[in-house]
Amino acid sequence: MKILVVGSGGREHALAWCLARSPRVQHVIVAPGNGGTAREPGARNIPVTDPLTLAALAEREHVAFTVVGPEAPLAAGIVDIFRERGLKIFGPTRAAAQLESSKEFAKAFMKRHGIPTAAYEAFTDAAAAHAYIERRGAPIVIKADGLAAGKGVVVATDVGQAHAAVDMMLTEGGMGQAGARVVIEDFLEGEEASFIVMVDGRNVLALASSQDHKRLLDGDAGPNTGGMGAYSPAPVVTPSVHARVLREIIRPTVEGMAAEGTPFTGFLYAGLMIAPDGTIRTLEFNCRMGDPETQPILARIKSDFAAIVERGIEGRLDTAEITWDRRTALGVVLAAHGYPESPRRGDPIEGLPEHGNEVGDDCIVFHAGTSLEDGRVLTAGGRVLCVTALGDSVKMAQARAYEVAATIRFDGMQYRRDIGHRAIGRPVRK
Ligand code: AMP
Ligand code: GLY
Repeated sequence: MKILVVGSGGREHALAWCLARSPRVQHVIVAPGNGGTAREPGARNIPVTDPLTLAALAEREHVAFTVVGPEAPLAAGIVDIFRERGLKIFGPTRAAAQLESSKEFAKAFMKRHGIPTAAYEAFTDAAAAHAYIERRGAPIVIKADGLAAGKGVVVATDVGQAHAAVDMMLTEGGMGQAGARVVIEDFLEGEEASFIVMVDGRNVLALASSQDHKRLLDGDAGPNTGGMGAYSPAPVVTPSVHARVLREIIRPTVEGMAAEGTPFTGFLYAGLMIAPDGTIRTLEFNCRMGDPETQPILARIKSDFAAIVERGIEGRLDTAEITWDRRTALGVVLAAHGYPESPRRGDPIEGLPEHGNEVGDDCIVFHAGTSLEDGRVLTAGGRVLCVTALGDSVKMAQARAYEVAATIRFDGMQYRRDIGHRAIGRPVRK
């Protein structure tokens, strides 16, 4: 069978790579894809992004089903469009995608259903927002309500920064429509983890835990990015944390969405903050897999992933099970010159694997912002590659990923040298 993957990032390369390994999959179409999916044995790119044209493509190519990577097409209703045409697709409807596309929707939903999250209020009026900041004090967090490609959150360490963020979003319109409404919430302390599950409207199948590294520089310094590296599993998600997240956050979310008439289908990503005292709170929901978390997570799947996604589409996730590679997977993002502010494009990349994207049997060079032009791979976005390796410990996966990263070169390449630092030294309990 043929499968369609929608998107062009590292997450979509990993999805295409993983789905192409399923025995019944002849090939994966990636729309629009990137330089890595163009080189992936078993995949090919088609340069289409508009949801209606994608639906026509799925019909014409007789794809068995479609998997959507990024949030934008989901928030635009691609799942509704496919379903109206009787096309199978794994992802949330536009209404369910509001868990990500509106922070206020997500916060109000969590409040209604008693799901632990930071106390908050939502504002469209700047004066009221300023007054709230004065009352609550700092640190405090200002979030644009709408989709902002990871740039909509200001963690203000003093009230001056908080007021400036409100002025930028509400008064000056610095985030456009996404920032015309803001959520202001209490600052939470602790360690973050990404908890991603598959949902079929009713049943939940948890994927392995993971942890991202959002800051640009070593030691979690510098500006926020889309994510500079990730590993799976995340030891902070102990078996007891795992059980509590399912019970306190995931189940009430899935049941609440169904009860409100907008059942959630697709990948549901809860960004968690695990406090030193063990309290677990939800920082955010995403209605998709994480990038770069997907790369190490999918590198560990030993089961037929296409068959699992099919069960997700058919509402049979209660009968699905995933076998995980017991090893740790760790992905290091190689970013372009100028990322995240103004990434440069067009730099030739050297040192990539000759054929395909695998290096031996324990490392995959997933592409994100790359393009294949006249046989040459060029940088074409901020996060360029994610070198993902498997190892018997975090340290060994880390050593292998950095060993392969050191063989890849492009002008202005930047990457963190400490991906996995929180997990190293922590006792691993899988
Ligand atoms: P979000 O898109 O809501 O996950 O926010 C992006 C990042 O901002 C998170 O990954 C956290 O690092 C940080 N953040 C968001 N909300 C809070 C909060 N209430 N307290 C502390 N940090 C936060
Ligand atoms: N890596 C964070 C995200 O995908 O939202």
